[in-house]
Amino acid sequence: MDKLIINGGKKLQGSVQISGAKNAAVAVIPAVILAEAPCVLENVPSISDVTIDLQILREMGADVRVLDKSTIRIDATHIRDAVVPYEMARCMRASYYFLGTLLTKFNHAKVYMPGGCDLGDRPIDQHLKCFKALGADHSIGRGIVEISAGKLIGTQIYFDKVTVGATINAMLASVKADGLTILENAAKEPHIVDLANFLNSIGADIMGAGTDVIKIRGVKRFTGANYAIIPDQIEAGTYMVAAAATKGDVTVNGIIPKHLEPITAKLRKIGAKLEERDESIRVMGADTYERTNLKTMPHPGFPTDMQPQFAALLTLAKGTSILTEGIFDNRFRYVDELRRMGADISVDGKVAVIEGVERLTGAPVKVADLRAGAALIIAGLSADGVTEIEDIQHIERGYEGMDVKLRSLGADIVKRRFTDGVRTAM
Ligand code: EPU
Repeated sequence: MDKLIINGGKKLQGSVQISGAKNAAVAVIPAVILAEAPCVLENVPSISDVTIDLQILREMGADVRVLDKSTIRIDATHIRDAVVPYEMARCMRASYYFLGTLLTKFNHAKVYMPGGCDLGDRPIDQHLKCFKALGADHSIGRGIVEISAGKLIGTQIYFDKVTVGATINAMLASVKADGLTILENAAKEPHIVDLANFLNSIGADIMGAGTDVIKIRGVKRFTGANYAIIPDQIEAGTYMVAAAATKGDVTVNGIIPKHLEPITAKLRKIGAKLEERDESIRVMGADTYERTNLKTMPHPGFPTDMQPQFAALLTLAKGTSILTEGIFDNRFRYVDELRRMGADISVDGKVAVIEGVERLTGAPVKVADLRAGAALIIAGLSADGVTEIEDIQHIERGYEGMDVKLRSLGADIVKRRFTDGVRTAM
C-alpha cells in the first residue's frame, strides 16, 4: 500500500507544467474507436484512468503504442464488438463513453455499469434517454448496460439537467446518425469542446460545442488525425490553490487562463495576488485570507472538481466561509479528515460551513475520492508537522506525478510503500 508523507509548512515556489486534461482524455480516447485510420494523441496525461482506457482498447484488439510520455498512437480500425469488462468499467466513470462509441461503430454496445468517485447518487438516465431518442433500445442485467439499434436517426434532445457525461455520450452516439441531432441544455465544459474538436478533426460535423445548443450532422466516414488534448484546468487550479495555501509563489505553465476564470476570481477575492499571461498564471500567496462563499455550478460556474481543494484553503481564512455543492449529493467526504487536522467545518446536506482556524496540524488521513485527495495534500502542505495520506490510488487516477511536481516546487513530500507495516522509499 502506497502512502504520501508530507512534512508541511514549506512555501511552494517556482513553476510547474500542467498535463493534459483527464476529463478530456477519457472522452477522446474512446472516441478514437470511430477513426478509420490510426490517430496520434498528444498531451495525454500519465494517470491511471488513461491507463485503464488504453487497456480497454487493447482488450478490444486496438494497437496502442506509447510514443513518448504524453504521446500515444492508437490504431483501433480492427477492434471487435467486445464487452467492456467489469474490472475496468468499475474503476472509472468515463468507461460509459464506450457505450456511445461502440453504439456508433457497431450499432451495439455492452459495458458494465461505470464506477468512479463515490459522490452520492450518479444515475445514467440522461444517457439512456439520448440513446433511446436516437433509436436505440437498452437493457440492464447482471450489472451490464446493453444497447442496440437497427439504425441511429438524428433527433432533438433536451437534457433535463446539465450533464457532462450525457452530453458527451450523445455526441458520440449521434456523429454518424442519419440527419441532424440537436442537443439542448448541453454541458459547456472545456472538455466538451475538446471532444467536439477531436471528432471534427476526424471528419465529424459538430457545431456549437461550448454553448448550450450543440448541432451534430451525421457523416458517413471518419479519417485519422493527430490531436493534442487541452491542458487540465483542475490540475492547474489545484496547484494554484496549493500555492496560495502555503503562502508561496508559483507559476502554472501550459494552461488556457480562460478555463480558470472562476478559480482566479475567487483566489483574488480572498486576497491572493495573480499575474495572468497568455499560457500561464502566477499565484503569489498572502499572509492571511478573507472569508468567502462559493457555490459549485456547471461551467462556466465554479467547478465542483475544485470545491474540496478550495475548502482546504478556506479552513485557514479569517471568518466563516460557506460552500454549497450544486452538482453532487455527497462531495464532502474529505471533511472528517480535515477535522483530524484541526479544521472547523460542519456539514448540513449540500452546505459546508467553515470557521477559519489559525493553523492545521499534520495527522494520518485517508483519501475518499480523487479531489478529496487533492484537498488533503493541500492541507498537509500548509499544516504544521507530518501528514500521512493513505489510499492515494484515488489521487493517481487524475493527477500525473503529483509528488514529483510538488517536490520540484520545494514541498517535502515523498511516496512510500508500506508492506506489512514496513516502509520502503519509492
Ligand atoms: N446526472 C443525472 N443523470 C444522468 C447524468 C448525470 O441525474 O444521466 C446528474 C449527476 O448525478 C450529477 C449531475 O447530473 O448530479 C452532473 O453530472 P455529470 O453527468 O455532469 O457528471 P459526470 O459526467 O458523471 C463529469 C466529470 C466529473 C465532474 C462532473 C461535473 C468525467 C469523467 N467526470 O462527471 O469529474 O465532477 O462531470 O463537472 O468527465 C473529477 O474529475 O474529479 C470528476 C468527478
